[in-house]
Amino acid sequence: MKVLITGGAGFIGSALIRYLIKNTDYEVLNYDALKYSGNLNSLKSIEKSKRYSFINGDIRDTKKLDNALMEFKPNGIMHLAAESHVDRSINNALPFIETNIIGTYSLLSSSYKYLRSLKKDVKNEFTFLHVSTDEVYGDISPLDPPCNESQPYNPSSPYSASKASSDHLVNSWFRTYDFPAVISNCSNNYGPFHFPEKFIPHIILNSIHGKNIPIYGDGQQVRDWIYVDDHVRGLIQVFEKGKHGESYNIGASNEITNIEIANMICEILDKKIDTKPNNINSFKELINFVADRPGHDRRYSLDSSKMKKSIGWMANESFESGLRKTVQWYLENEDWWQEILDGDYILERIGN
Ligand code: NAD
Ligand code: DAU
Repeated sequence: MKVLITGGAGFIGSALIRYLIKNTDYEVLNYDALKYSGNLNSLKSIEKSKRYSFINGDIRDTKKLDNALMEFKPNGIMHLAAESHVDRSINNALPFIETNIIGTYSLLSSSYKYLRSLKKDVKNEFTFLHVSTDEVYGDISPLDPPCNESQPYNPSSPYSASKASSDHLVNSWFRTYDFPAVISNCSNNYGPFHFPEKFIPHIILNSIHGKNIPIYGDGQQVRDWIYVDDHVRGLIQVFEKGKHGESYNIGASNEITNIEIANMICEILDKKIDTKPNNINSFKELINFVADRPGHDRRYSLDSSKMKKSIGWMANESFESGLRKTVQWYLENEDWWQEILDGDYILERIGN
């Protein structure tokens, strides 16, 4: 089986490719434009595999995309390429419109053209998996039940609105052209190789550097966290078994507030690091409440029972063990993150 993966140099895409090369027989073509969060160092452990190849390409580059599809001849596509950071979308929404909406349109068009060129038996096996987010449902109140797949879309940020738009485009391609697409909506991922602008790696790296740990607003916002490898297993199973035209929520039912996570990370680091920066006794002394994110979603919570019932998937990693493994990974992999910090990205808040 051959799969073309867009965004395979990003956090989740690279975890997916590492998993596919190490644990399956899939042949993988990684199609990624290497934007600021794309990093081929995350794929070093598998880059020499004969079953792995890479094209530096933008999903809006129709000619390059068409050639890649015609030459590689994938049996399916897993679409992860996106602008993914909410704070950046608040600062400047345009790249989100360009990649998440126009880019997804462009990929759908090329994929449909490619699909029509296939012989019937290959065509019947083809699946396009669109990787989306729980943020399309918007936020919910503390007593609301978790969102299932029939929750109406109600996105809050330019990021989530652009992802919601792309989900609608994918659904319209299914309805109008009978295009064999399936959508996954996952909750907040964490784990190794996560770009340091995101909450968990941001806290870990700020702490190590003795910098303030910025907590937006009152820190009582709730996210539903899933270890990235659990998401990856879910994606592969939806790709293989998901019903075309349907969507599947992927979450681990780990609801926790931001301030609780910050405290947990500080406690892990307090035990691991004897000589602390700036003469502090505990990393908790670095916690600093700062201005809230505009339009900040209060709570996400996903009902993933459809994944369990119809796909047979469930998350394995507990939040406590996943978080400990993640902190340890950042302590042991300075080479990976130092190269990022030596580049354009600085450990500072993006936008407001
Ligand atoms: P990421 O920012 O780490 O990676 C995105 C990748 O897409 C990068 O490698 C980047 O170079 C590439 N890319 C961006 N624009 C491109 C373009 N125009 N053409 C080709 N490649 C392009 O993001 P991530 O956290 O790995 O998220 C991957 C996908 O999963 C996204 O679609 C995101 O919306 C979705 N998702 C993420 C989470 C999460 O918690 N991180 C949760 C649910 C869903
Ligand atoms: O829910 C899935 C989504 O999770 C994905 O679709 C997005 O791509 C991904 O970035 C993530 O979005 P969030 O906005 O939830 O993640 P982020 O890591 O940016 O922030 C998590 C929470 O922590 C959020 O409530 C904002 C808060 N936060 C974030 C940062 C970076 C802080 O309090 N301080 C910070 O410095």
